Amino acid sequence: EMTDVAIIGAGPAGLTLANLLQRNGISCVVLESRDRSHVEDRQRAGVLDHYGSEIFAKAGLADAVIAGAYREKFLELRYEGEPHFFDGPSHAGGRAGVIVPQQLLVRRLLTTFLEGGGDLRFAAKDVALHDLTTTPRVTYAGGELTASYVAGCDGFHGVSRGSIPAAELTTYSFDHGIGWYTVLAEAPPPRHALMAISEHGFAAQFARGPHSSRFYLEYRPGAEDPREWPDDYTWEQLRLRLGDPDLPGGAITDKEIVEMRSFVAEPMAYANLFLAGDAAHIITPMGAKGMNLALADADVLATALTAALRDADDGPLRSYSDTCLRRTWDYQEFSRWFTEMVHDAGAQSDPFRRRLAKARFDRLWANPKAAAWFADMMAGTALL
Ligand code: APR
Repeated sequence: EMTDVAIIGAGPAGLTLANLLQRNGISCVVLESRDRSHVEDRQRAGVLDHYGSEIFAKAGLADAVIAGAYREKFLELRYEGEPHFFDGPSHAGGRAGVIVPQQLLVRRLLTTFLEGGGDLRFAAKDVALHDLTTTPRVTYAGGELTASYVAGCDGFHGVSRGSIPAAELTTYSFDHGIGWYTVLAEAPPPRHALMAISEHGFAAQFARGPHSSRFYLEYRPGAEDPREWPDDYTWEQLRLRLGDPDLPGGAITDKEIVEMRSFVAEPMAYANLFLAGDAAHIITPMGAKGMNLALADADVLATALTAALRDADDGPLRSYSDTCLRRTWDYQEFSRWFTEMVHDAGAQSDPFRRRLAKARFDRLWANPKAAAWFADMMAGTALL
């Protein structure tokens, strides 16, 4: 079997790429190792930044993908119980992100691709990549494809990155030394996304439906295991950190931990294989750029593959990695900047760093140019 592009993985990156190629009339086959319900039910990211939503608008997919999504306006940054509302869109010329839970985005992208006649094979086990320097072949349990190009969109644990000879890749890993304990609870949602900076540690609260919230609490990995915290203690910590002694405590229905790690593989390409999304980089959740970065990669890759296959111009494909790495590092820096601002204020931190974190926070309200930069990063950038 032959196709122009074999796409490995049907997460946000793979499905966005598949839809964009379909719109451009480029043939592709998506191979996904899991079954459809697993892919559709996976809950992760939730915010599509303005730049991410423009990708779909530009491709004529806005109605299919983002219709009805709630526009984000304020971010509450609460400092030791003191509320500060950051109006990102007004600092970014009206550019606003929209709330699109990943499951919804993935479902809509899946439906659109399949209704357009797309070829997506679920439960494709044992995918292996061969002959990447000539005409790539992709084998999997029960089939084989020959493709002009392979798009590795199979996430951090996929096979694509590992198919690149180790000597061809440079990887950068960074452990921020911070853990987040996250709980889903029956608690009235906040009006605006809420992040609380406090000497007791960072905490956040986001709406998850009309009667529930997802909370995040910073913890020290290695020194404590919050999964052992009694729920009463969790509520006590939340009241303290959010500076809200009246926060009602309801049933906690889900508990998870996240360790803050960053990773980048360079380059994001090897011969006829191109990596996109988590296959190439991991970013901390601060700033909510993980999914948006995956979509931006997919957009750049779709344009580049189309130029190569339709117009016989492989220039954009050759610069794909450099183009995407510029944004990747820009977002990594933003995410680290944000992470420090909201975590370094804790009593555990070095006193000098605590002061720096406060100065960083104060600058957002005192300096309109700093506010505009922050809002611009939140909205996402067309950095090329
Ligand atoms: N063969 C085929 N498919 C695979 C394989 C494999 N060997 N390994 C993994 N996959 C599939 C996974 O089952 C998953 O559906 O690849 C997909 C990868 O999806 P994600 O991990 O969501 O990665 P990506 O599309 O890059 O999106 C990443 O979205 O969830 C947000 O913030 C999150 O940063 C993250 C971003």
